[in-house]
Amino acid sequence: MKETILVTGGTGFIGSHTTVELQQAGYDVVIVDNLSNSNANVVDGIEKITGIRPAFEQVDLNDFDKVEAVFKKYSIKGIIHFAASKAVGESVEKPLLYYRNNLNSLMNVLELMPKYGAKGIIFSSSCTVYGQPTDENLPVTEQAPIQKALSPYGNTKQINEEIIQDYIHSGAPIKSIILRYFNPIGAHPTALIGELPNGVPMNLIPFVTQTAIGIRKQLKIFGNDYNTPDKTCIRDYIYVVDLAKAHVKAMTRVLDQETDPVEVFNIGTGHGYSTLEIVEGFERATGVKLPWEYAPRREGDIEAIWGNVDKANKVLGWSADTPLDDILRSAWNWQKKLREDGIQ
Ligand code: UD1
Repeated sequence: MKETILVTGGTGFIGSHTTVELQQAGYDVVIVDNLSNSNANVVDGIEKITGIRPAFEQVDLNDFDKVEAVFKKYSIKGIIHFAASKAVGESVEKPLLYYRNNLNSLMNVLELMPKYGAKGIIFSSSCTVYGQPTDENLPVTEQAPIQKALSPYGNTKQINEEIIQDYIHSGAPIKSIILRYFNPIGAHPTALIGELPNGVPMNLIPFVTQTAIGIRKQLKIFGNDYNTPDKTCIRDYIYVVDLAKAHVKAMTRVLDQETDPVEVFNIGTGHGYSTLEIVEGFERATGVKLPWEYAPRREGDIEAIWGNVDKANKVLGWSADTPLDDILRSAWNWQKKLREDGIQ
């Protein structure tokens, strides 16, 4: 029998791609999303790709009774928890909003899991918990020290990891896998789902594709005085479809295998690319010339981080192998599709 997985934030960027991969691996999916930063028509895109319409419940995870009604209605075995506010700058301005939303929603889900027999939860964390690793800690492993978060958003990731640890250590009959992502980019190869930021994009790739299509005049590369080979920042850019597949591996592991009650995995490619390399890669992969200039450093940016992903490779049997040019082309195809559909 197919097992049912609850995907919170399932109409979002990573949630929608993960729903597709879960369905294609044979799971039934129930999406819960309050649509605060996404659109219900994402469910149509998912259905077009897989031929299966996931169940969709428009529910705010802060509303305990409504979340409980979802647990009552479906026989949920596993949960992938994406739903969260995620704008770093906004979190600095509205810390209580971020703490309330991101912590309560996780706690509500955790509290309901044992009562309704849900066994495992995959939590979407971030490499932001490592801050700027020292040179000898790069590429960064899961053992690297956690550093004080630079924003309330980053802090909610750290606190939520601790909430899961503490709850399970208290004897709650559930297991968890915490995935620390590096920088997720790209879109589904069908261009039927992708990233759709509100307003001016903060993240690099949406800004690049919006500049390429003419919505933004010029890309600014933040900082050309970093201590890196080409003086721009370095990140580990992971294809969202590869990332989504890591969640399926993690879900199968947490539900079907004897494991420690809480495990942590880095999810990245193991390679670092500079901002300049991404810009040049985009031009090479798409043949589109990108107007850009250097600008001062962006406050809060770390200089360089990329992941050691040996643990995920060995233990999850997963690796991210999509070539960078293909990933960048997928982001461009998605942007062109948004234009064709009159969305952007
Ligand atoms: C950001 C968040 C991080 C979050 C991640 C994924 C911060 C400090 N961190 O990571 O918590 O998990 O997004 O969504 O915001 N860049 C430019 N020009 C631009 C935009 C970006 O040069 O217009 C550069 C940045 O300086 C950075 C790189 O591109 O070096 C990647 O930036 P971005 O996509 O915003 O991700 P992060 O800052 O790494």
